[in-house]
Amino acid sequence: MSINPANSLISVPSGSFVVPDVTTVLSTEERPLRFSLIIPTYKEAKNIPQIVEQLSRLLDSQLAGDYELIVVDDNSPDDTWKVALELTADYPQLQVMRRIDERGLSTAVIRGWQVARGEVLGVIDADLQHPPELLLQLWGEIQRGADLAVASRHVEGGGVSDWSIIRRFLSRGAQTIGLILLPGVIGRVSDPMSGYFMVRRQCLVGRPLSPLGYKILIEVLGRGRVPWIGEVGYVFQERQAGESKVTWKQYVEYLQHLLRLRLSLGPIGRFLRFGLVGFSGVFVDMTIFYLLREQVELGLTTSAVLSAEVAILNNFLWNDLWTFGDISRHQRGWRKRFKRFLKFNVICLAGLFLNVSLVNLLFNVFGINEYVAKLIAIAAVTVLNFWLNFKLSWRVTDVRR
Ligand code: GDD
Ligand code: MN
Repeated sequence: MSINPANSLISVPSGSFVVPDVTTVLSTEERPLRFSLIIPTYKEAKNIPQIVEQLSRLLDSQLAGDYELIVVDDNSPDDTWKVALELTADYPQLQVMRRIDERGLSTAVIRGWQVARGEVLGVIDADLQHPPELLLQLWGEIQRGADLAVASRHVEGGGVSDWSIIRRFLSRGAQTIGLILLPGVIGRVSDPMSGYFMVRRQCLVGRPLSPLGYKILIEVLGRGRVPWIGEVGYVFQERQAGESKVTWKQYVEYLQHLLRLRLSLGPIGRFLRFGLVGFSGVFVDMTIFYLLREQVELGLTTSAVLSAEVAILNNFLWNDLWTFGDISRHQRGWRKRFKRFLKFNVICLAGLFLNVSLVNLLFNVFGINEYVAKLIAIAAVTVLNFWLNFKLSWRVTDVRR
């Protein structure tokens, strides 16, 4: 994609949110830019001229001809995209994307990164609450070797200007919940809610992102490969024109986003998925057992064995598609899938045997209450099943990460 002629919109990528390697975005004769800065906008017509002017002046001083600004507007009713498009005549580094079918801050930023030609990808709000001049300090962090440079309100020199007690409380509360659920992600930076940062493209290339709501930084920290982080303090300014688009919806989306990351990251995430699938299996088992006993009037043992088998099949399919989906995607074909199913089946049946033996041991030998014994057995067998299936049924052969 060569430099867009003035006054024409850049096309909106579609499909999954994966940042491609820069070579796939450039035309043959083009070389990558050093920096691409995304400005997500919704109803910012009044702010756009000023932010573009300030950013261009700043970046021309350090990266003349080697950066681009990409405004990603979600078809704002105040025609923000049109105002920005008119500016492209005066600012050759400026590009404008107008999204019609998609909406949301985080997805807007990633769509911008997908078409960006820079080796370092940044994001800044359009309403001047993020001071543009801080960009040079963030860039300095990247030059010093950081993979991610974050503008933080919670380090020295940081703060917020006129936030109400409620908003301060909500912001800190949200951070605390994040620290409890995802300490290894949220705990890596002092301001995980920051919407102002820049990251080396290579930290994100080829890694499926699944953004939701406002908090793009936690998505980068959770799914990116970011060894070294630098932070620069800043004071979150008062908004000059327009108003914040933050509503309670963003807080709900933030919690959803945390849960989605929790369920998808690392061994804990995988185990939680395995547990949820196991839980659905209990439901399937009980329902099928009831139908076979009451509707088909089959014998007790036959019903119990058949319903257990249907539950095993249910769990296998969900585990193959979801829990271990990142592995099974690289081991395609029915033959391989059937092999995994057989292994899963054997492990589950062994688990069933272990479950019954454990209940008997705990109840008859140690005199533990039968329901407590059953719960202990389920927990123990679930952990063992998870480990055995991870090591045997979905054994990592040649997964490319
Ligand atoms: N494309 C697009 N689509 N842009 C959006 C959307 C949307 O649905 N919603 C908001 N934006 C743009 C706004 O136009 C603005 O440029 C930027 O995203 C931030 O929106 P605000 O509504 O001004 O957010 P805020 O000031 O309350 O909170 C900001 O700062 C916080 C502190 O850094 C956001 O960046 C928060 O994510 C951040 O936590
Ligand atoms: Mn704002």
